[in-house]
Amino acid sequence: MADQKTVRNALLITGAAAAGYFLWKYTQHGSTAAAPVTDVTPTRPTSTAPTKETKMTHILHLDSSPRGSSSHSRMVSGELVEALKAANPGVTVTYRDLGHQEIPYVNETFIGAMYTPAEARSAEQNEALALSMELIAELKAADTYVFGIPMYNFTVPGVFKSYIDQVVVAGVTWDLATYTGLLLNKKAYVVTARGGGGYGPGEAREVHNSQDPVLKSAFGLMGVTDMDFIHINNTIRGDDVLNGALAEAREKIAAIAKAS
Ligand SMILES: Cc1cc2nc3c(=O)[nH]c(=O)nc-3n(C[C@H](O)[C@H](O)[C@H](O)COP(=O)(O)O)c2cc1C
Repeated sequence: MADQKTVRNALLITGAAAAGYFLWKYTQHGSTAAAPVTDVTPTRPTSTAPTKETKMTHILHLDSSPRGSSSHSRMVSGELVEALKAANPGVTVTYRDLGHQEIPYVNETFIGAMYTPAEARSAEQNEALALSMELIAELKAADTYVFGIPMYNFTVPGVFKSYIDQVVVAGVTWDLATYTGLLLNKKAYVVTARGGGGYGPGEAREVHNSQDPVLKSAFGLMGVTDMDFIHINNTIRGDDVLNGALAEAREKIAAIAKAS
């Protein structure tokens, strides 16, 4: 029977051999097949979002707070839309209240349908994609987006993440082969409401801000790179602080409307 020293040596040799093999495999793979990390950086197409000259024609307004009249993101996104309407007579507005609508998680049928060519999809697959196609049609039809989004646990509410999962569809809103967005010439205004503050660049809680990055990544992937954020911070820190944040937001709204 092998003594303890023999067994230990055998284990050491086996371990070293395995590590050597994996190191070799890794370097082989790295030198031939692995794509450089830069290959997955989405291409950012040049945006020609509506300007004062080209004029906005169609706003898609989404709210996602489940609260009603006490919601700050809802109130300020509404004020922004009203200001844009006043500055752009005749502009069409499509409204969707995600705060009071179930947006389903993607499921296995949805994923299967997403990767099946449109002409080959079953009735069940078409049904699974029906809401996604409706939401995407709204995104395509509008040239300007206004989103009202609360911060929940440092990011967007679950319903808005479900919305993102419904609309980020390869071959429809972004091209998988070239990693380019297919929603072009759009401008997005995002109104966020947060109970606290300090989430901006260089501020104490910047590292916790997973709200702006997820929106910039998802919409950037779809080609919506022109995003303007209006943050209403400290909504639960008392009226004085909140009123200051609202005054700042309203100044920004006036400037946006004037420039639109
Ligand atoms: C479930 C939940 C999670 C929250 N998480 C955060 C958070 O991570 N950071 C923060 O600053 N505020 C947080 N808040 C406070 C909200 O962001 C704040 O109340 C905001 O005003 C909500 O938007 P609304 O006024 O449009 O409904 C949270 C509130 C709720 C209900």
